[in-house]
Amino acid sequence: MSPLILAIESSCDETSASVIRNGKVLNNIIASQEVHQKYGGVVPELASRAHQRSIWHTVDEAVRTAGIKLDELHAVAFTRGPGLMGSLLVGASFAKGLALALDIPLIGINHMEAHVLSNFIEEPVPSFPFLCLTVSGGHTQLIKVSDYLEMEILGETQDDAVGEAFDKAAKLLGLPYPGGPLIDRYAQSGNPHRFNFPKTEMPGLHFSFSGIKTAFLYFIRENILHNPDFVKENLPDICASLQYHLVNMLTSRLQEAAQQTGIKEIALAGGVAANSGLRQALHKLAGQHQWKVYLPAMQYCTDNAAMIAMAAHYKYLKGIFEPPDTVPLARYPVGI
Ligand code: KG4
Ligand code: ZN
Repeated sequence: MSPLILAIESSCDETSASVIRNGKVLNNIIASQEVHQKYGGVVPELASRAHQRSIWHTVDEAVRTAGIKLDELHAVAFTRGPGLMGSLLVGASFAKGLALALDIPLIGINHMEAHVLSNFIEEPVPSFPFLCLTVSGGHTQLIKVSDYLEMEILGETQDDAVGEAFDKAAKLLGLPYPGGPLIDRYAQSGNPHRFNFPKTEMPGLHFSFSGIKTAFLYFIRENILHNPDFVKENLPDICASLQYHLVNMLTSRLQEAAQQTGIKEIALAGGVAANSGLRQALHKLAGQHQWKVYLPAMQYCTDNAAMIAMAAHYKYLKGIFEPPDTVPLARYPVGI
C-alpha cells in the first residue's frame, strides 16, 4: 500500500496544497498573499478572505500537476493549528468537505510538528533523536525529536517570536514588511560588533525577544536625537549588530540544549532559517562541536503544504485520523 494524500496548509497568510505518494512529496503549490504588505503585518480578516479566494485553485493545481485524480486519494490532511482561527477554518472546512465527499479519512496536523518534519522532505535527513530549532514570524521553539510523531518542547519564547523581532526592528528602521530578509541583506556589509544590545536572561532553555525590541526602540530614538541621519548613515552596522545579537540568543540556547542532552544532530526549520547569519553561525558551531546540521530547502522552511503532507504520511501509517466533526485549534501545543 503506498498512501496517496492531499495536504492543505492555511494557518497564516500562505494558501498551500501538496500531494504526497508513499512519503515522497510530488509538489508544493503556494499562493502568497500580497495584501498584507501595506499594513506592515498580517491582517487576520484579510488573510481568511484571501484563503477563500485561492484555496480551490491551489488544490486544483496540486492535483493536476501531480497527475492524479481526486478519487485516487487515500486521505485528505489539513493544518489543524496553531494559527489564525479564520485562516485555519478555511483549510479545515475545505478538507472536511472533500474527505466527506470522497469518503476517505481526514488527518489533522500540528503546524509546528510539520515544520520539524520538513527536514524529512529531502535527503539528507536527521537521525533520531535530534534537536530542532524552529524559528519563524510566529514561533521560536527548541524541540527534542525522538521519533516522527514524538516531540518534546525543551524551550520556547515566552513572548515575541524571533521573526517578529526582526520584522519590528526593520519597521523602526523604515524597511518594508517583512523586514527580516532586508536586515539580513544590509547586515552582509556591516560590522556586527559596532553596537551592543542587552541580553535577556530567561530560565531553562526558554527565549524572550520583547526586551530586545524595546531596547532597540530606545537605541534608535536616542541616537536620532543626536543625529537625525543616524539610521541612514549606519544602516549596515545597525543591521549587522542586531542580527548578530538575535542569532547569538538562538545559538547559545541551542548549545546549552545540545550539551544537556548530548545530542549532536541539529536541524533548523521556519522562515528565519533563511537567515545567513544563523546559517553561518550554525556551520561554525557544527565544526566546533562535531554536530551534523540539517537545513531544509527554503521552499520548505517558510509555510508550505509539503511539510503538512510529510506529517500526514506518518500519521496515516499509524492510523491517526480526525473525526468528521473536528475543529481547528488556534493554540495547539507540540507533542499531544
Ligand atoms: O515561517 P514563515 O514564512 O512564516 C511564519 O511566520 O510562520 O516565517 C516568516 C518570518 C518573517 O518574520 C521573516 O521576516 C523571517 O521569517 N525571515 C527572515 C529571513 N527570511 C525570512 N528573518 C531573518 N533573515 C532572513 N533572511
Ligand atoms: Zn509556520
